[in-house]
Amino acid sequence: MTTLVTGGAGYIGAHTVRALKNASRDVVVLDTLERGNKQAVLGTKLIVGDIADQKLVAKICRKYKVAEVVHFAAYKAVGESMTSPMKYWQNNVSSTLKLLETLQAQNISRFVFSSSASVYGTPKTSPTTENESTNPESVYAETKLAVENILKSLTAGGLNSVSLRYFNAAGASSDNKIGEDWTTSQNLIPRVMRALLDDKFKFEVFGNDYKTPDGTCIRDYIHVEDLAVAHVKALEYLESARNTLVCNIGTGNGTSVTQLLEMAEEVAKRKVPHTIGARRAGDPVSVYADATLARKVLNWQSTHDLRSIIESAYNWHSTHPNGYR
Ligand code: WQD
Repeated sequence: MTTLVTGGAGYIGAHTVRALKNASRDVVVLDTLERGNKQAVLGTKLIVGDIADQKLVAKICRKYKVAEVVHFAAYKAVGESMTSPMKYWQNNVSSTLKLLETLQAQNISRFVFSSSASVYGTPKTSPTTENESTNPESVYAETKLAVENILKSLTAGGLNSVSLRYFNAAGASSDNKIGEDWTTSQNLIPRVMRALLDDKFKFEVFGNDYKTPDGTCIRDYIHVEDLAVAHVKALEYLESARNTLVCNIGTGNGTSVTQLLEMAEEVAKRKVPHTIGARRAGDPVSVYADATLARKVLNWQSTHDLRSIIESAYNWHSTHPNGYR
């Protein structure tokens, strides 16, 4: 019985491949390597190709006796999704439909999907439960919600799935073997690391005049290794469940940008060079998870604290200034 991981050469995908192998699951990775790194799969069987290539996917399923799928393959840059929407609808939704059609023909009925807390947009309440109304504010988030709805519609036909709504994934592997590529990331933590380690990089805090205790936005930063384990738990759940589940995957703790900078300065033992700039359009004031459902149904909860996230990120970026290159 093999687990097919699409997009397994990406940041969260590669950490999940490791977690699956640590749980003694056989894994095969399908990735175009358009944005992934082959080194990140650490020797796991990697087939370079596209999930929309139905002949290839069918061949992989037969050859490796694929019994379940964890699906990461997608574009995930919020800003890019607004300037190139068709690229996001094609790759994140149309190609996923082709993948699902192939899996259906191969009678594969267990599917874990990489969704995102951005389907909530600016939630009315934090901590945010799965009952919060969805209100995607980017094409990226729209594509994630669209696939969630497609999966729900396929339940009656026999597809059992878990959609994991990630909050803010961050950090690197505790053994410093895999991590994030900061050259492409617009996210806070890789950019704080770059501010500390690359004196040419100009880091800006996007606004400190929000209605929060210290004026900066609040988020739920979750260690990528905790996030990876949630996928193993989701597959274990699907071995006995016959339904479709949507679950928040976060720590349940809200951290402001200022608090994160303070932790980074404690870890790096020096100030984070930065300026305070204007707000970034589309930034919700406060988004952090109520992760009760994941704890109750998936028997999952986060184990790493903010310090561990920052220490692993700092360790990775200070020893891998050029990522995998
Ligand atoms: C966090 C906070 C910024 C950069 C995004 C996606 C979401 C998910 C995670 C995929 C905000 C502030 C950031 C900087 C800053 N991705 N910030 N200066 O926006 O919460 O979520 O990534 O699933 O879909 O929307 O994460 O890390 O970009 O921002 O001040 O240079 O850091 O304003 O308050 P975000 P982020």
